Amino acid sequence: MVYLKQQRPEKVTVPAVRSSKERGEKLVCLTAYDYPTARIVDEAGTDIILVGDSLGNVVLGYDSTVPVTLEEMLHHTRAVRRGVQRALLVADMPYGTYHTGETEATRAALRLVKEGGAEAVKLEGGRNRVEIIRRLVNEEIPVMGHIGLTPQSLNKLGSYRLQAKTADAARALIEDAQMLEEAGAFAVVLEVVPREIARMVTETLHIPTIGIGAGASCDAQILVTHDLLGLSFSQTSPRFVRQYASLRDTMNEAITRYADDVRAGLFPSDAESYPLPADAAAELGVKKSGV
Ligand code: KIV
Repeated sequence: MVYLKQQRPEKVTVPAVRSSKERGEKLVCLTAYDYPTARIVDEAGTDIILVGDSLGNVVLGYDSTVPVTLEEMLHHTRAVRRGVQRALLVADMPYGTYHTGETEATRAALRLVKEGGAEAVKLEGGRNRVEIIRRLVNEEIPVMGHIGLTPQSLNKLGSYRLQAKTADAARALIEDAQMLEEAGAFAVVLEVVPREIARMVTETLHIPTIGIGAGASCDAQILVTHDLLGLSFSQTSPRFVRQYASLRDTMNEAITRYADDVRAGLFPSDAESYPLPADAAAELGVKKSGV
């Protein structure tokens, strides 16, 4: 795959994301948790790369995002930073880092920016996060909001399911979105909400909405890269995931072929190993093998 920089050379910034809505541009967003994935996702021309706390489920093998720590987010954000040149790099604030006060939240967000190299942070919640978002924005830390299904609330919700499906809940979601915008968020993720409600939020806000399971009217779309590539282990795939490749099968097949070759003595070949130079072979009286 060629680097798409020629077609989309300009670095994506927070102001560019904000103004993309006026230009009617559909932004492309994906997750990454490590250097090679970040490079590939960036080189393919993705506009926003999120080091999501989905890291917990997707890469670290946790059952949910709840156990993910700030140190884990920092470790992975630094790796992704090294692989990203063009996309805007956003890091998730993990559960527990913005729940005990604005100063602690600011400290955690500053670490993600200073040590992790993130250009913005994302945090989950609506009206209950307004003060924290104001404080972070005031400290020059751009914030992406996240409402609808908020996976860090799993213990409260009981399961991951469609949100804002009653008229009251939908009205509350729209109000939450407006409050996040007023607090200074530069974009809002809408996760697993009815497409009609996502459209209403998108039409109401001046900042871009980023949909995941929220229909096509959102200003941008995000997916977990491993879901798109067929590299995840979840039993059932949510209906909003479109799988564009089956890398788990591809990897399994490649590793099986490698194992077969090793067991049959077919790997490595002479071309995949190093011959002893002739003078050393002569001095040692070693018979040279291969070509
Ligand atoms: O953690 C994550 O990957 C996310 C996206 C799915 C929006 O929050």
